[in-house]
Amino acid sequence: MPAESIGASETDIRLFEPLALRGITLKNRVVVSPMSMYSSHEGFSDDFHLVHLGRFALGDAGLVITEATAVSRDGRITHGCNGIWLDAHVPNLRRITDFLHRSGSAAGIQLGHSGPKGAGQRPWHGNGPLGPEDAAQRREYPWPIVSSSPLPFDEGWATPHGLAEADMDELVLDYRSAARRAREAGFDVIELHCAHAYLLHAFLSPLLNKRDDKYGGSLENRMRLPLRIAETVRAEWPEDRPLFVRISAVDGVGVGWSIEDSVVFTKALAARGIDAIACSSGGVKLPRGQALVSRDRGFQVPFAAHIRQVTGIPTIAVGLILEPRQAEEVLRAGDADLIALGREMLFNPNWAAQAAVALKQGAGWKEWPDQYAWWLERRARQLSPRGAS
Ligand SMILES: Cc1cc2nc3c(=O)[nH]c(=O)nc-3n(C[C@H](O)[C@H](O)[C@H](O)COP(=O)(O)O)c2cc1C
Repeated sequence: MPAESIGASETDIRLFEPLALRGITLKNRVVVSPMSMYSSHEGFSDDFHLVHLGRFALGDAGLVITEATAVSRDGRITHGCNGIWLDAHVPNLRRITDFLHRSGSAAGIQLGHSGPKGAGQRPWHGNGPLGPEDAAQRREYPWPIVSSSPLPFDEGWATPHGLAEADMDELVLDYRSAARRAREAGFDVIELHCAHAYLLHAFLSPLLNKRDDKYGGSLENRMRLPLRIAETVRAEWPEDRPLFVRISAVDGVGVGWSIEDSVVFTKALAARGIDAIACSSGGVKLPRGQALVSRDRGFQVPFAAHIRQVTGIPTIAVGLILEPRQAEEVLRAGDADLIALGREMLFNPNWAAQAAVALKQGAGWKEWPDQYAWWLERRARQLSPRGAS
């Protein structure tokens, strides 16, 4: 995509403008969205994760965020989920952050707790609740799960235990320890997972939270636990490192958690020192007849745009953003500050580096690792109509 077609010179590409947040400067606006790989053992990441996340750094992503990483063993979604509930998890994560840094990318970690969607199967084992076959074939047994209220996530799923206040105190401590370990592991950014019907979203959404104590009912009450966790993590996390929160900006179309709720939540988070909001949507099983947001290209960009416009807080747009030009236009329109890609990165981990070449008209090779750029730039010249010298 030539730069002229977006009305920009090669030096004026927003996608490759650095962004400073607290003491961390992201070299560009491309973020690898958190993606669970269900390939950890007892929460330990390994060489798979190093290579998987490392590819995105070699491909020039400015910020690589790990998959949802459980703050407690029971907070995993599946037996294969990554974890940070033990000090012993830190060294393998450190290897990953060292590699990302060496490649010029910032390292983010998404901290999460599965809540009502815990004790699940890996997608390729069925994507449902763990059952007798998982136990028989892989010795993967279900474990007791928790939520805001004792409501199963969907038909066939176990009924979670509604958290008591003492459980919440434990949970807050788990998040605090996880933040400490994230620092020790060398991460630059923490993202708190408050989306997709996992535990913190299960407190926010009125479709899942039916409590009648001070953690349920009004919006203020439903936000109480996520805000407590945000405050605790902010206090534990170094001043100079940014803290993001990922939300489901809406549960569906005109049902449950709304964009107005997201604005209120964002302002409350900002008051507690949160630096950016990643705007996803959905995750809750909606009542019959209610619709999810339709999933077209860039379908969640309007949420990032609205929240950014109304609150002034930096936002991260995500969801079927596929082409460099599309990403550049989101930034130019002022709809978001960062662009996160999920599946497109799995398809093409060099997405950011290729976007640099496409948008910067030949000047983008410096975004590639030196080990590749020297060769690829010459090859490009050889292939150009004038040929190489
Ligand atoms: C394999 C896979 C795993 C995912 N795991 C997570 C996760 O751990 N945490 C999260 O917040 N979102 C997760 N997501 C959602 C993505 O971060 C992203 O929001 C979604 O895929 C939409 O963006 P895309 O159209 O660029 O893929 C996952 C998506 C995929 C495809």
